[in-house]
Amino acid sequence: MQPVPAAVPPERLLLGPGPSPVHPRVLEALARGVVGHLDPFAFEVADQVAGMLRTVFRTDNALTYAVSGTGSAGMETAVLNLVEPGDTVVVGVNGVFGARVADMAGRAGAEVVPIEEPWGRPIPPERVESAVRAHPDAKLVALVHAETSTGVLQPLEEIGGLLRDTDTLFVVDVVTSLGGVPVETDAWGIDAAYACTQKCLSVPPGLAPITFSRKAEAAMAARRTTVRSWYLDLAGVRRWWGPEHSYHHSMPVNALVGLHEGLRLVLEEGVETRWARHAEVGRLFQEHVQDRDAALLVGPDDRLPHLTSLAWPDGVDAAKLRRRLLETHDIEVAGGLGEHGDRTWRVGFMGEGARHELVDRLLDAVDELLEG
Ligand SMILES: Cc1ncc(COP(=O)(O)O)c(C=O)c1O
Repeated sequence: MQPVPAAVPPERLLLGPGPSPVHPRVLEALARGVVGHLDPFAFEVADQVAGMLRTVFRTDNALTYAVSGTGSAGMETAVLNLVEPGDTVVVGVNGVFGARVADMAGRAGAEVVPIEEPWGRPIPPERVESAVRAHPDAKLVALVHAETSTGVLQPLEEIGGLLRDTDTLFVVDVVTSLGGVPVETDAWGIDAAYACTQKCLSVPPGLAPITFSRKAEAAMAARRTTVRSWYLDLAGVRRWWGPEHSYHHSMPVNALVGLHEGLRLVLEEGVETRWARHAEVGRLFQEHVQDRDAALLVGPDDRLPHLTSLAWPDGVDAAKLRRRLLETHDIEVAGGLGEHGDRTWRVGFMGEGARHELVDRLLDAVDELLEG
């Protein structure tokens, strides 16, 4: 076999729905040396990561870890640890990721009660209220806070208030919201939330931050059946993350060191300042892209600031424009998913990508391509 050349990724500006641009400090942290997963250094980093995640999740939850795997592993951790066969699970489905939660819950043996809304619209709290009234024994209600397939922001606070004094758990996907828009785990009564590293935290994909409330812990302790995953069973995962600090699986410590640096950057900036930066930069893009006759697919009250789905006017080949942007300017944006398809774009200004100058860079490149 001929020698294989080194794999050197092209320098892309990542303005899609994730991964987002990574700060050089995080890249440098990822390339530091390797230690064993039982090294005291690894546990010290894990404890610090857990502490910083509590600040970002705005929670006091003891069970706050970063599980090995991407956001979907976080989703599966929540579903498999909380759901038992025969449980009723209410899931908001208004895009790809709500549908993924419903799929996972069905695979876990749940009776899934979907609350379907058209793509581009949030799940109304009244519909959650009536679903829970119709299914008072529901084990959990699961919603996606930031639906990445459409760019919808799901209001949570009122729904959390509804569920707070019931036996039903409130599970929220914060994969695209954590670190970018307000997430108030404790104040909103969220019992389990899961995220990823590669969006508003601006760390390459590989770990899934999770947090579980005392109410969720009590539900797990009362399980009648074993969790249908060995790897993601929190009773095992906590052996490594919890005070026992013993072997469960070979924790990817380098990824953890990268997340540690990413979280240090988040806290240096301040969580609220970071939310404000995402709001400001996202709104600026939304305003300026509409000046170019693009139509935003989500209404102003329901729209995420930092992840926008849009349709270009007739006569613009959205898929070709996107390809040309990558080929000629090294800028990545994404096409639509599912129902919206390739006629549309999804543009993210997330984490390190949420910068005014990057809005200009993208729009200048688009103008050039549209004129050319
Ligand atoms: C809202 C949401 N949930 C879950 C996921 C799954 O995360 P991952 O692709 O990291 O497994 C994504 C990925 O984009 C997402 O946007």
